[in-house]
Parts: sequence; structure tokens; C-alpha cells
Amino acid sequence: MSQSLHHTVILVADDDRTIRGNLAMLLSAEGYKVREAENGRQAADALSQGEVHLALLDLKMPEMGGLDVLRQFGDELEETPVIVITAFGGSQAAIEAMKLGAFDYITKPFDLDEVLFTVRRALTQQSLIAQVRAMELARGQRDDEPIDDELLGRTPAMLEVFKTIGRVAATDEPVLILGESGTGKELVASALHANSPRCDRPFIKVNCAALSTTLLESELFGHERGAFTGAVAQRIGRFEQAHTGTLFLDEVGDMDLDMQAKLLRVLQTGRFERVGGSATVATDVRILAATNRDLDALIADEKFREDLWYRLNVVTITLPPLRARRDDIALIAERVVARLAEKYRWPRLALSREAVEWLVAQPWHGNVRELQNVLARAAALARGRLILPADLTPVPAPAAARSEPPALSAGSLQLKSILADTERRVIAQALAQAKWNRTQAARLLGISRRQLFDKIRQYELQPSG
Ligand SMILES: Nc1ncnc2c1ncn2[C@@H]1O[C@H](COP(=O)(O)OP(=O)(O)OP(=O)(O)O)[C@@H](O)[C@H]1O
Ligand SMILES: [Mg+2]
Repeated sequence: MSQSLHHTVILVADDDRTIRGNLAMLLSAEGYKVREAENGRQAADALSQGEVHLALLDLKMPEMGGLDVLRQFGDELEETPVIVITAFGGSQAAIEAMKLGAFDYITKPFDLDEVLFTVRRALTQQSLIAQVRAMELARGQRDDEPIDDELLGRTPAMLEVFKTIGRVAATDEPVLILGESGTGKELVASALHANSPRCDRPFIKVNCAALSTTLLESELFGHERGAFTGAVAQRIGRFEQAHTGTLFLDEVGDMDLDMQAKLLRVLQTGRFERVGGSATVATDVRILAATNRDLDALIADEKFREDLWYRLNVVTITLPPLRARRDDIALIAERVVARLAEKYRWPRLALSREAVEWLVAQPWHGNVRELQNVLARAAALARGRLILPADLTPVPAPAAARSEPPALSAGSLQLKSILADTERRVIAQALAQAKWNRTQAARLLGISRRQLFDKIRQYELQPSG
């Protein structure tokens, strides 16, 4: 579970001081943060402040009963599970509470194990919901890109970048944009185009890494009908589409040498032929190129043509990695969160001070893109409330984090594998917590011992160390 206990806030609302005190002691001893309310009004206030992850609510309280609190927060209960405490087992009130969206109920007198067990079950389920939601968010975000094309920053390094953009945008010179993955190279390219006299002409992007040489050649230069099997019609290439506008060659460092030679020729002469054609086409395009590869090293290895490098590299803009401009992190993070809040109608979604401190301290190997992903996930975990450090988890696998996150393909298998993965981790955690006492772990998980044994086999779990 990604929600670490120490930041999970549990509201204990009961007018009976002894019960409240006992529950608070029990939960604090387990590592939860506890907030107490002695009547329904206080409980409602605490809930509306948005910092509570789970609530234990007595049904009979002065000022405002538990049911009234439930009624008031009905729509938000998916975000904050409520466990109702009732003195009358199986009574109408408990049924009513469940109908109003309570997660579960406990009858007085209760034993403390039962309380802990129910609390953990609610939080586990919550974290599953949150993880699925995070995946949906991440996917949703990718679907309607670009979300925002404003380059943010006020560190000297970024101000320098803005100045250079301002200085060279209006020229027709090629610009080479360098920087680690996720540092904003594509944003710089669009800013250059948007601030140039060509801004109302086409801005065409080509990802040079995504296509094989043959496909890239026809993508860039187009082809004549019959040029190769499958070329059933003439195709206008990107160079022609970008005529009078800007052509952005992304991941140019991944282009192979053959293709580099062809590109160089166009850059030198301003002319090219469509694949399979003999007519020469003249082109007027402004070239922008970007790569996260180390071009000097590629040149030294003879994997990148030095003459092409000279052509592309009339002006270079190098984007500093995010960790070299930490003072921009809060600014960017706040903008990202504000956008998520607006998009998902979570008016209270915001970053806590501690969350910002955590963000500023991270290495961000995946730069701004990674920051965006971590925040999308945190937003889901925070369930539309204040984002706490516990909601923030670094993206694992650094190698993967540095490149484009894998696109989700359609289909339920995806969701199944996400859930299975989460299930495996939750079970492993319960086992570790119970020191591999299976009875105890099964209890923690709210499943039978038999089910637990099946899962251990299914996921091939083993005690470590
Ligand atoms: N300075 C910034 N301010 C605001 N958002 C930014 C900034 N830099 C990058 N971003 C955002 O981060 C994400 C990644 O940026 P972009 O796609 O431009 O990176 P890149 O350098 O092209 O990465 P890659 O090498 O992986 O293609 C985008 O969603 C972009 O909007
Ligand atoms: Mg890019």
C-alpha cells in the first residue's frame, strides 16, 4: 500500500469520552494520526476541511447525529470511508448508515481488534480505488494533450532559456534543443514557433525515433504512387506539409546514418524528391531539432554526422534538468495541481507545505514529466483533498521513468493486471507485517486462510530475508 500509516488521518467522533480516548489510543499506537470530535458538528467540520482519510462515526451524538453527518457528506464518501459505530447491532440505523454510503459498521461493545481490522480493510480498499483512479488520470491526461503549453520557470537558468527563445524565435535559423527527457524540449519548440513570424503557418512534428528508416524517409519526404508495395497513392511528406512553416525533428539523435545523409542534403539545398519520384520539390521550412541523447558522444562514435550537427546547431538551447532548478519545482507543481483540480472538479485539491518540501527534494530523473505523473497519482490518492507527503511516491524504475510512460492499450486485461499487481503487493505487505503468520495476515486482509494460501501460491510469494 502506498498510503503510509504515519500520514493517514483518522477522525474519531464519539460523544463518549472513554470510547473516544480508547479508540484514539489504539489507532495512534498503530501509527495513525488521530483527530477527535465530540459531536456531529465537530465531525462535520473536520470532514469538510478535507484532511481526513477515514472516519469512525458514532451514530448517536449531540448536535448532529452520525446519520446527519453521513447525509451531508454523502457524495464524498467514496473518497473518505466512514465506519459507523452503533450501540444497536443490526438496527435500522445501521442499515440506514450503509445505505447512505458508510463503508461498514461496528456495534458496541466492540473489541479493538475488530476496529483495527475494519479500519485496515477500508484503507486497503481505498488504496486500490485510488490506484485504479491514478491510472485513469494518467491515461486521461495523455489523451487530451497538450494540456498546457506554457513554459514555467523563474530560476536564472530558465530565464536564460526564455531570453534565448525571444532572441532567436524571429529568425529562420535552425535551433537544436538539448536536455534530458521530460525537461520541456517540445514546449520550447512550440514556443519558438509560436513566437516566430511563421506562427500562423503549419507547425509539423516528426518523431524520428518512432519510425524505421524506410518509413521515416517517406514520412519526411512523401512518396509517389507505386514507389513501393502498399504505396497506392501519392503521399505528401512532412517537409511539404511544413512548407512556409516550422518542422520539428524530435529525437533527431536516434536517426540512422542513411537518413542523416538525406536530411543533410535537404538542409543544404532546400530541395528533395519524394520517394520513388524524380521531380524536385523546393521547400521553405524552419528546422527545429531536439534530442535527449549526448550528441558529442554519438559523433565521437560516428553514429551522428558532424556536418549535420553543424547544420542543425546554429543556435543551441540546453534545458537544465529539473534538479538543477529546484526553485521552479513548487511553481510547476502548483500549476499542475491547479490544472488537475480544475479538470476533475476537485476544488479542495492542493499541495500541503510538507508535500512541496518533499517534491523539492527529489532527484526527478524523469524531470517535469515525472513530476506530473507523481502529482496525478498523488491527486488520486488524496481523493481530491490536501496532498500530503504520504500521497507522494517516486516513480520506480528509473530507466522507464526517463522515457515516455508506456501507453495503456484498451481492454480489461490492463485493469486486471493492475489490480493483480496491487493485490500482490498488498498481500506481500500484510504477510511482512504479520511476520508471515498466515492467520494474522489473512485477518489483516479480510480473507480466509485458505484464500490467502491460494494467493501465496498464485503470486509465488516467499518470506524474504
Ligand atoms: N518549464 C516547464 N513548465 C511547465 N511544464 C513543463 C515545463 N517543462 C516541461 N513541462 C511539461 O512536462 C512534460 C514534458 O515536456 P516535453 O514533452 O516538452 O519534454 P521533452 O524534453 O520533449 O521530453 P522527451 O525527451 O522525453 O521527449 C510536458 O507535459 C510539458 O508540458
Ligand atoms: Mg519530447
